[in-house]
Amino acid sequence: MQQRQLFVTTALPYANGNFHIGHIMEYIQADIWVRFQRMQGHKVDFVGADDTHGAPIMIAAEKAGITPQQFVANIAAGRKPYLDGFHIAFDNWHSTDAPENHALARQIYLDLKQTGLIETRTIEQFFDPEKNMFLPDRFIKGECPKCHSKDQYGDNCEVCGAVYAPTDLIEPFSALSGAKPELRSSEHFFFKLSDARCVAFLQAWTQDGRLQPEVANKVKEWFSVRTNPDGTTSEGLGDWDISRDAPYFGIEIPDAPGKYFYVWLDAPVGYLASLKNLLDKRGESYDDYFNNPNLEQHHFIGKDIVTFHTLFWPAMLKFSGRKTPDKVHVHGFLTVNNGEKMSKSRGTGLDPLKYLSLGMNPEWLRYYLAAKLNGRNEDVDFNAEDFMARVNSDLVGKFVNIASRAAGFIAKRFGGQLGEVSADGQSLLQLLREGLAPIAKLYDERDYAKAQRDIMALADRVNEYVDANKPWELAKQEGQDARLQDVCSTCIEAFRVLSCMLKPVLPSLAAQVEGFLNIAPMSFVNAAQALGAGHGIGEYKHLMQRVDIKMLDSLFEAPEPVVQALTPGGEDIAPTISIDDFAKIDLRIAQIVKCEAVEGSTKLLRLTLDVGEGRMRNVFSGIASMYQPADLEGKLTVMVANLAPRKMKFGVSEGMVLAASHADEKAEPGIYVLQPWPGAKPGMRIH
Ligand code: 2FM
Ligand code: ZN
Repeated sequence: MQQRQLFVTTALPYANGNFHIGHIMEYIQADIWVRFQRMQGHKVDFVGADDTHGAPIMIAAEKAGITPQQFVANIAAGRKPYLDGFHIAFDNWHSTDAPENHALARQIYLDLKQTGLIETRTIEQFFDPEKNMFLPDRFIKGECPKCHSKDQYGDNCEVCGAVYAPTDLIEPFSALSGAKPELRSSEHFFFKLSDARCVAFLQAWTQDGRLQPEVANKVKEWFSVRTNPDGTTSEGLGDWDISRDAPYFGIEIPDAPGKYFYVWLDAPVGYLASLKNLLDKRGESYDDYFNNPNLEQHHFIGKDIVTFHTLFWPAMLKFSGRKTPDKVHVHGFLTVNNGEKMSKSRGTGLDPLKYLSLGMNPEWLRYYLAAKLNGRNEDVDFNAEDFMARVNSDLVGKFVNIASRAAGFIAKRFGGQLGEVSADGQSLLQLLREGLAPIAKLYDERDYAKAQRDIMALADRVNEYVDANKPWELAKQEGQDARLQDVCSTCIEAFRVLSCMLKPVLPSLAAQVEGFLNIAPMSFVNAAQALGAGHGIGEYKHLMQRVDIKMLDSLFEAPEPVVQALTPGGEDIAPTISIDDFAKIDLRIAQIVKCEAVEGSTKLLRLTLDVGEGRMRNVFSGIASMYQPADLEGKLTVMVANLAPRKMKFGVSEGMVLAASHADEKAEPGIYVLQPWPGAKPGMRIH
C-alpha cells in the first residue's frame, strides 16, 4: 500500500467558552480516524486552533474588563484537560490570532485580489452612536415587523419565526447600549463568489465525490436558489461580504485602514496557520509540504458550517492558487438523553470535565461514540442507559473478559508461556485475521459503528469458543494441560487481534494490552503476525471497570431546590467575597415572556425567560404561592444566567430567578420577585 500523507483538522472552536460535549465528539471522531491511519502506516498531521476573532468575543472581553487577547488566552489555557482527558492527540494547537494566521490571511486576500475576485461596495448598516460601532445583526433588537413581538433579534423573530433584515425591525435598538441605531453607509469588501469562474469551479468541486452524497446534494441546491437576509430568495451564489469596520477584533485588511476581515475569512486559514506553526517547530518547509502531490487535506466539521467549508473555503484556496481540501467530513449534532441539540453557546447535558472528574473512563465515551458514528451527517444521541449497556455488555462483557478468562491459566500453569494452537483454534484465528481488512476499510470510511459491531460479532465467536472448550473445566481435568494451554493461547491471540482492531478507539487500553502481552505497538500492518508458541506474556491486570449507574446519576445529577431566596432578614450576612467572586455570577435582566402553573406542583411556576441571547430559557421558580402567572407575564426580573442547568421532576431549569424572602418562612411568609427600575432591558448585566 502506498503511504498516504494526511493533513487533518477539526473545526476551530470559538474561543468564547470551554469545550462542550459536541466539540469532544468531533475531536474523538477525528482522533479515531487519525490513529487508525497511523496504524495503517500512513503519515498524519492533525492540528487544531482556537477561533479567536469577531464581534461577540470582542464584546465579551470588554464586558469582562480585559483585552480580547487576554480573553482568548484565558480560554486557551483551559483546553488541555479536555484534550488529554479524552486522549485527543492533536499534534498542534494554535490560534487564529497568531502571527502565522495574520500573515497567511493577508496573503490569501492579496492573491484573491490579484485574481480579480475582490470588489468593494458601499452598503448601509445600523450603527450604534453610543458605542461608535456598526452593529452585527445579533446585536440589534426591536419589534418584529410581522407579529409585533417586542425584543426580537435583527435577523429573525423567535416568536413567529419570520426572517427579515435588521432594517425591517420596528423601533430598533442596540442590544449593546440600548441606543437607537442610525443607518450609516460604509465601504465593504466582497469576495465575488458569483463570478462565473467561482461558480464553475465550485459546481464541479462539490460534485466530484469528495463530499458525502447527502452533503453534495444539499450543496447542489445552493447553486440555484439562496435565501437573502430579508427572507426573499435569489438565484445562484451571492457574493460574500468579507469585511467589518473597526472596532473589530480581527486581522486588518492590507491597504485598508480601519477595515478587518470578517472572522469567517480568517478562521479556516487558521488550519494552515496551525500546520505552519507545527512545521516551523519541526524545522520543515511549509512550501515543500504543499508541493507534495500526494498530500491529502481532510477537514472534520459539523453540519452547521458546511457552506463555509464547501463554498467559501475551497474558493478562497483555489483562486489564491492553493491546494483545496480533498475531503470534508460532515457529522451531525450530538443530543443528550434525547434532549435538544448541543448549541455552540451552551453545552447542556453532559459536562465533559464533570465526566472526567467523576472518574468515568474516557474510553467508555470514545467507544460509545464510535458505536454510534456511521460516517453520515446524522445526529447522534447520548443515552445514559444505552451507554451503560454498550460499555458493560460489549466492551467489558464480550471483549475484556476474553483476556481475563484466559490469562490467569497461562500465568499460573504455564509460566506465562503461550503454547501451540491446534486446528480448531487456528480456524477461529483465521476468521479474526480475515476480519482485519474489512474492519480497516470501515474505519477509513468512518463507519465506526459498523466496525464496532463487526468487532463485537468476532468477539462473540471467541466467546463461543471459550464456552465450548471451558478452560476452567479443562484446568480441573487430569492430562488436559496441553489442551488448556492450546485453548488459552488461542484466546490470548484472539484477544490481541481484537485489541488491535479496537486500538484507534481505545488507545490507552491498547497500550496496557501491549504491555501485558509484551509486544511492540500494534498496527494493522503487523496485526496478522501471530504471537506463536513460546511467547511469554506478562501478568494480567484488570483492564476496564464496568460503568456504575451511580456515576451516571451524578453526571446528570438531580437539581437542588430551584429558588434559593436572597434573604434580607432572618440570617447573618454571608462571609465577604471578592469582586472576582461576584463577577462569576452572571446576573441578567430577564423578561418573563410566558408564565404558567406547573401541573402537580403547588409551589412552582414555569417561566419562559428572554435574557437577550436569541433563545428562551425555561426556569422553574418556587413562587406560585405569591403570584398569578398572568401577572408576571411581560414583566422584567433578574436571573442568574450562568447557573448550570438542573434537571427537575418537571423538566430542566436553566437558571434561577432572584427573589427575596425571610430565612424563616413560617415566621414571615412571602417571597418577592425582584424587578428592575424602568430602562433596564432583557440581557443587560447586573454589575
Ligand atoms: O462554528 C464554529 O464554531 C467556528 N468557530 C468554526 C470555525 S472552523 C474553521 F473555519 F476555523
Ligand atoms: Zn414575529
